[in-house]
Amino acid sequence: MLTGKRILLIISGGIAAYKSLELVRLFKKSGADVRCILTKGGSNFVTPLSVAAISEEQVFTDLFSLKDETEMGHIRLSREADLVLVAPASANILGQMAHGLAEDLASTTLLATNKPVMVCPAMNPMMWEHPATQENLETLKTRSIHIIGPADGDMACGETGTGRMSEPQDIHDSVLRFFDSHKPLSGFSALVTSGPTYEPIDPVRFIGNRSSGKQGHAIASALADQGAVVTLVTGPVALPDPEGVNVIHIETAQEMLDAYKSALPADIAVCAAAVSDWRTEDQVNQKIKKNGAAPKLTLTENPDILKTISNATNRPALVIGFAAETENLIYNATNKLSKKGCDWIVANDVSENIFGSNKNHVYLVTENGHEEWPQMDKRAVASALVDEIINHTNTIKLKEAAE
Ligand code: C5P
Repeated sequence: MLTGKRILLIISGGIAAYKSLELVRLFKKSGADVRCILTKGGSNFVTPLSVAAISEEQVFTDLFSLKDETEMGHIRLSREADLVLVAPASANILGQMAHGLAEDLASTTLLATNKPVMVCPAMNPMMWEHPATQENLETLKTRSIHIIGPADGDMACGETGTGRMSEPQDIHDSVLRFFDSHKPLSGFSALVTSGPTYEPIDPVRFIGNRSSGKQGHAIASALADQGAVVTLVTGPVALPDPEGVNVIHIETAQEMLDAYKSALPADIAVCAAAVSDWRTEDQVNQKIKKNGAAPKLTLTENPDILKTISNATNRPALVIGFAAETENLIYNATNKLSKKGCDWIVANDVSENIFGSNKNHVYLVTENGHEEWPQMDKRAVASALVDEIINHTNTIKLKEAAE
């Protein structure tokens, strides 16, 4: 859940410092890397050795330590983190932060950081309510510093009121929510089609195709992992529903189109399904009997979902189609861009045994030309495609900001 996230935890002086050991353990259990700075006050409550043992990292304590500064200066400490968290945050460190003081390693790092900062205040209720503390907090809020807690309850000093540090699990969950809401595609919605469609011939037989849905499902997962709200419309596949994705199961192309339309509007559309081009013209409600003569099937064209979505009035800002070709791959894919009216085409040569395989070899075709990607696992293709989508949305955001 926090895999790959680097948290710099500053433990300042307060009895709640003992809870920070549990906090480090929870972060590590969720996959985060945790580096700790222990202030002089903090080291009165927990020892550098216990913090080092739990974080499995060197603990930093001294601004003027020749050893620490040469191995990992305070600037690097503040840069090599995705989040700086102060827990517990004493009234003193909140005051230092509010007034830009840089007296020790913790306060200097907080002044030097360009990363998001969260604080978990912990102090006696009178200290918490003191106008000086409250004014410092107001100052920190105007600088977009996130404040977690404090909670109400009995204090170590014997008094009761507001000032207890939030429980480690609550702090952990707030950090998780913070990272979730700061993912590159947070605030974006995406609609993905995947798998084959089945077009009934009679109640037991159908026209289908060999699509496994592996690529479309991987794309839905990768979009969700980057924070998008994803709806996946899938034909019959033997895959589990991807986690964190709203899944709509359909069988026919018409059902896929209806589900897709009902899920609009969306910011991003990815049509990875192998939609059957035709369906039988007649609806047959009883099983067709074998009577010596082969039945004649009259086929009629199915709606083109990609084309319909690309030309809809509430068209997603970015529409991506797929092109499964057996010859003239780039030529056919480039034609498909204009024929369908989509923005990008992911083209693959299906003569290379792509159906059902875990690997894919694709070309990304846009109005600016095409680029070949090396053969990769379908999940790697999905994450490379989502990286391209993130770059594209960032460029749009930058353009909008410049206007
Ligand atoms: O027309 P063709 O099947 O070659 O185009 C492939 C692309 O169009 C894929 O993105 C596929 O999901 C989409 N498609 C569709 N509806 C159809 C046929 C194809 O959305 N009826």
